[in-house]
Amino acid sequence: MTERVTGEVQAMAEAIHYDVTDGVAVLSICHPPVNALAWPVRDGLLRALTQAEVDPEVGAILVAGEGSTFPAGADIAEFDAAPKDPWVPELCTRLENCAKPVVAELHGTVLGGGFELALACHYRVALRATRVGLPEVKLGLIPGAGGTQRTPRMVGVKVALDMILSGRILPIDRPPYSTFADLLVAAPNDLRSAALSFCHDVMAKGPRPSRDRQEGFADPVATQTELRSRAEEASEGPENAPREAVAAVEAAFLLPFEAGCAFEEAAFAELVASDQSKALRYAFFAERRAAKVPLTAAAPLPRIGALAVLGAGALASQLVVAALDAGLTVRWGIADEAIRDAARAEVEDSLEDAVSDGALSRDVASASLARLTCGATPLMIRDADLVLDASRGSRAETAPDGALRATAPGETVAGVGLRFARPAHLSRLVEVLEAPQAKADQLPLALALVKRLGKVPVHVRSDGVTVGGKMTRALHRAADALVDLGASPYDIDAVLSDWGLELPPFLQRDATGLKGVGTEERPGGGRDWAAVIAQAGRSGRAAGRGFYNYRGDAGAPVADPLVLEMIERARGDAPGLAKQAIVPLMLGALANEGVRLVDRGIVARASDIDVVIMLGHQFPRWRGGPMKAAELHGLFRVIRAMEAIDHPDRAFWAPEPWLKAMVRDGVGIETLSA
Ligand code: 3HC
Repeated sequence: MTERVTGEVQAMAEAIHYDVTDGVAVLSICHPPVNALAWPVRDGLLRALTQAEVDPEVGAILVAGEGSTFPAGADIAEFDAAPKDPWVPELCTRLENCAKPVVAELHGTVLGGGFELALACHYRVALRATRVGLPEVKLGLIPGAGGTQRTPRMVGVKVALDMILSGRILPIDRPPYSTFADLLVAAPNDLRSAALSFCHDVMAKGPRPSRDRQEGFADPVATQTELRSRAEEASEGPENAPREAVAAVEAAFLLPFEAGCAFEEAAFAELVASDQSKALRYAFFAERRAAKVPLTAAAPLPRIGALAVLGAGALASQLVVAALDAGLTVRWGIADEAIRDAARAEVEDSLEDAVSDGALSRDVASASLARLTCGATPLMIRDADLVLDASRGSRAETAPDGALRATAPGETVAGVGLRFARPAHLSRLVEVLEAPQAKADQLPLALALVKRLGKVPVHVRSDGVTVGGKMTRALHRAADALVDLGASPYDIDAVLSDWGLELPPFLQRDATGLKGVGTEERPGGGRDWAAVIAQAGRSGRAAGRGFYNYRGDAGAPVADPLVLEMIERARGDAPGLAKQAIVPLMLGALANEGVRLVDRGIVARASDIDVVIMLGHQFPRWRGGPMKAAELHGLFRVIRAMEAIDHPDRAFWAPEPWLKAMVRDGVGIETLSA
């Protein structure tokens, strides 16, 4: 017989539903979309817990998430304000200290603070499809609610650090992650009854606090060795969170539980306030904002099941792989039969490689191939929901009128074009170019496709201009101007590489190749140094010489005195430039260009530019993209640096009024929108 007591504690009214069923208090978290542990959830949970603790009818407590998931983490949007009590660690401690057994019922994506909450419960019953993870490092943070302390106690430092340093989302039904679950349930409909019955089983056993578990530290020598090598690895990168994560896990091993938690709390507080974490949190929301494009057509995004891809080149085959990975049915149209067979064989090989590497299971690879049909183009188009024309050169003659075009650099579009960052099957960015002549239904189709492929669309109003292209040209123009002013390309690259650019401008230009055609003078004033160098017969890395010399050991780039001589001869006297001015000037030039793109309505907001440059152009995510990086560096400092130089390309270097207004009004670049 089920006795049912239903009560609502006032303050938890909406975020927590409280039920007592047959002696088990069920605390259901209801805070869509992902049940993030925002203040009303934390406050409500604490009150509900107190109520359950004192209720003599309650023998065990079940914590669950309503809707699609158990909490997917702390509320990231709250991190910019001072923490409001109760904060997640306090909640976890209260759950763990509860005198009655507390069970977590897991489903969905149990991440970050949500996973830590689950670990603080005494037992866990999980749906098999549940995925767990500690993705805080992707936000420049470490787990801050006991995750660095409880996880290694349960599964050892190796698995704990793999989880914390990778931030990966992992299946709870596979070892070693199955250690986290005391009971796995296959069918969603059985989860609640299994969890309630489990609660009854543990009523007699009582609480089992994770802080008392020690099985993860069973081998102290191996633990010590693992910690030492992880500390060494983490010290190499520019990001602070991995270093702090290793230190916190070491504290779990060496210190009493409370002292380890205090270490974690202090490290978390320092990281949350850091520019790196601010940039990474911004990047998280910027990507989600970019994907929200207001549409003129009122209809919901169309559903895409079968996609026809046209073309036989590298881009087409990358798109076929991307579409298969996303679970789409793919109809690949290639006119020539021999080319078609070779193209299919190539895709088969790449899936086989993924199986051998362990990146893909045999079943998934076979299912992907079963969804691929190759044939003559008209036949392939016939049953497709959407046609994506990725043929090289001009548009495929057989492409139907409404087809979307996967564009190449420099190509203009008449309707909507998709500029996939390369390689298209791995990269997450797609610039969705909407030309003025585009038909009303083309943009919704393009967005639906990009989202279906699991990629991030950035809407660009243009018939050919891309954000990536514009910003890259601005970076090169700025880098050339710094040489005009007296800096050497090697100093510029070294400073920017230390700052975090993976491929600084002169190395980047060598990699893509230098062109000697055209004039050495830039239209706005100053020199195009790539043209100067190319005209001296140095066309870039492929040719063994460009700005750098690649003819030595293993083709590594080496500074070349001949290039410096060439520059000095062509430049004559230069005013000279302090190295400290390089970063603010580069950021100023990029921020200026970004403002122009928003001002002209090419993109809707500054953060869209950052998304493009972070996802598609190797800009360090922990700097937040060029616009956010300029803000974090200090727009006032950036503007002062631009105003302090005397370069002939004045229109380029004059700070845009919008930038100046932001400094004057004390607002951030998030206010910059068309
Ligand atoms: N806080 C605040 N909002 C969040 C959030 C979070 N932790 N996680 C997701 N959201 C929001 C998103 O911004 C989005 O809002 P919008 O609809 O207004 O744009 C909405 O929830 C849905 O998110 P997605 O579009 O990303 O939905 P998906 O279904 O594609 O993905 C997810 C769901 C896998 C949960 C993904 O959102 C995700 O990875 N979230 C972040 C998880 C995370 O980083 N957790 C750790 C937070 S830090 C922490 O917990 C600190 C602790 O140690 C103290």
